[in-house]
Amino acid sequence: MTSLPPLVDSFGRRHNNLRLSVTDRCNLRCFYCMPADDVEFVAREELLTFEEIGRFVTVAARLGVDKLRITGGEPLVRRDLPVLIEKLAAIDGIQDIGLSTNGILLGEQARDLFAAGLRRINVSLDALDPVRFKEVTRREGHEKVLEGLQAAKDAGFDPIKINAVAIRGLTEDQLIPFGRFARESGVEVRFIEFMPLDADNAWDRNRVLFASEIRSRLEAEFGPLVARGRPDPTAPSSDFEFADGRGRVGFIASVSEPFCGMCNRFRLTADGKLRNCLFSLIETDIKTILRDGGTDEQMIESIRSSIHEKAEGHEINTARFVQPDRPMFSIGG
Ligand code: 5AD
Ligand code: SF4
Repeated sequence: MTSLPPLVDSFGRRHNNLRLSVTDRCNLRCFYCMPADDVEFVAREELLTFEEIGRFVTVAARLGVDKLRITGGEPLVRRDLPVLIEKLAAIDGIQDIGLSTNGILLGEQARDLFAAGLRRINVSLDALDPVRFKEVTRREGHEKVLEGLQAAKDAGFDPIKINAVAIRGLTEDQLIPFGRFARESGVEVRFIEFMPLDADNAWDRNRVLFASEIRSRLEAEFGPLVARGRPDPTAPSSDFEFADGRGRVGFIASVSEPFCGMCNRFRLTADGKLRNCLFSLIETDIKTILRDGGTDEQMIESIRSSIHEKAEGHEINTARFVQPDRPMFSIGG
């Protein structure tokens, strides 16, 4: 396959990092992502098939995409996910595949995922305490996630990272336990600022626990954090290590320190819509091209125009901000 000029947006950012949502279904109901009940999911026949995802990624790879991340909903509820991973890993140009999961089904699936060629896993876990876990996720499952983490370790995954959304007034008492967990387990814990992508439109700046505050609290307990440098300048996380060499933590300060300037990411939703940003208010229909006999050239044209239309950054910190219609579960994390 011939390669084509890369995907560069009108601000000069090159887009090589594609996030693929494989389902909008989920076995949890985190309040910052989903409604509590009566969730309307995409009908199964509207989900892209593995063949369709494979075709899209093959085209994207010709445009310089080399990094993929599988997301959801909860990606492990999509049947036969290892089959998709194997297929994607075999596509010319794809060098790196990661998965973001809530970990509930990892105990069952970690080995098969590893065997399929997956190596990098992020587990979303916002609380180490079962009561807090249930407050955030509105479901049971805390122990399953811890088992899943262990299964991922046993299967050989490296790195394994925990993503913890930090919410003021809810998970503040989890910061120190997470710091301790990072120090004892060797798993890097990354704290994510709560973003306005919830289904209930209940996001409020006062509920965002800022990265700077989290850092101070951890330092007060465990001593200074030392920056680990940024091997990948496009990575949204700032990574640190405790000065005594024990434990790594990171901060994804999407609200207080937006990293849009270096963004290299775009997303394909489970129902085949291309989004150039989490906060984009428009999307590009890829599924129709895939299903109605569209050509690769048409798809390339659509991808280029989506990237070309990308805004400079999100406007969460301005009065202009408009929250997208789709909450996080439906966009793909
Ligand atoms: N704000 C911040 N992070 C969120 N995630 C989902 N919704 C939000 C939100 N509103 C996180 C998940 C997961 C990652 C994919 O995105 O917890 O770790
Ligand atoms: Fe599910 Fe993840 Fe959304 Fe929570 S954040 S509801 S685990 S998709």
